[in-house]
Amino acid sequence: MSKVIAIDGPAGAGKSTISRLLARKLAYRYLDTGAMYRAITYLALEEGIDIHDTEEIVKLSKKIEMQITPPDENHISHIIINGRDVTDSLRTKEVDLNVSTVAKNKAIRELMTEMQRNIASSGNIIMDGRDIGTRVLPDADYKFFITASLEERARRRWKELREKGLEVSLAEIEKEIAERDREDSTRELAPLVKAEDAILIDTSNLSIQEVLDKLISYIKDEGNV
Ligand code: DC
Repeated sequence: MSKVIAIDGPAGAGKSTISRLLARKLAYRYLDTGAMYRAITYLALEEGIDIHDTEEIVKLSKKIEMQITPPDENHISHIIINGRDVTDSLRTKEVDLNVSTVAKNKAIRELMTEMQRNIASSGNIIMDGRDIGTRVLPDADYKFFITASLEERARRRWKELREKGLEVSLAEIEKEIAERDREDSTRELAPLVKAEDAILIDTSNLSIQEVLDKLISYIKDEGNV
């Protein structure tokens, strides 16, 4: 049967890692909706548009042609913007620092929400983000809210950057994540909140496999795995 799984939570909680693994396990599609906001931010920065200039950002959004590809061999959909696959260019510090401003923009959110609903309408999909269970797909079959303490999320991100050979201070990362949490949770439109009917999973003291097992156990309970 065709199912839709919504996964929300704050930055660095492990949503995308878990979503990818779950997509592989269930042979579902996976769409990272944060990447859609990131793609617009990336293009705006590239074109030298002032991120705070709402009118310019809306103008840009109207001329952007965004396509989400069918899933690749890892079940991941790529983001094509004006004919270019930008999927692997979206996790830069510059995009990190500017994306929450773009994600606050009403016109952009409306556009993205509509696209996301269209993509989900054919089912068998895992979508992660901030407002999937609350706004985009309120009728999703499963809703999970994945979180972890600020310290743990910062530590994971710090480790990831160090593994990539980047020297960064843990305190600085913690400050940046706290600021993103604040922006995502306090914005007027579709703020990050747990949907009432979402299952809360705190991953602070869990391994990736343990989190995955937990999600699968909820899905299995209803006989879908
Ligand atoms: O998950 P991420 O870090 O890639 O998200 C990037 C930004 O986009 C972050 O500021 C939250 C925002 N976002 C959103 O507002 N709604 C979503 N459904 C997904 C992400």
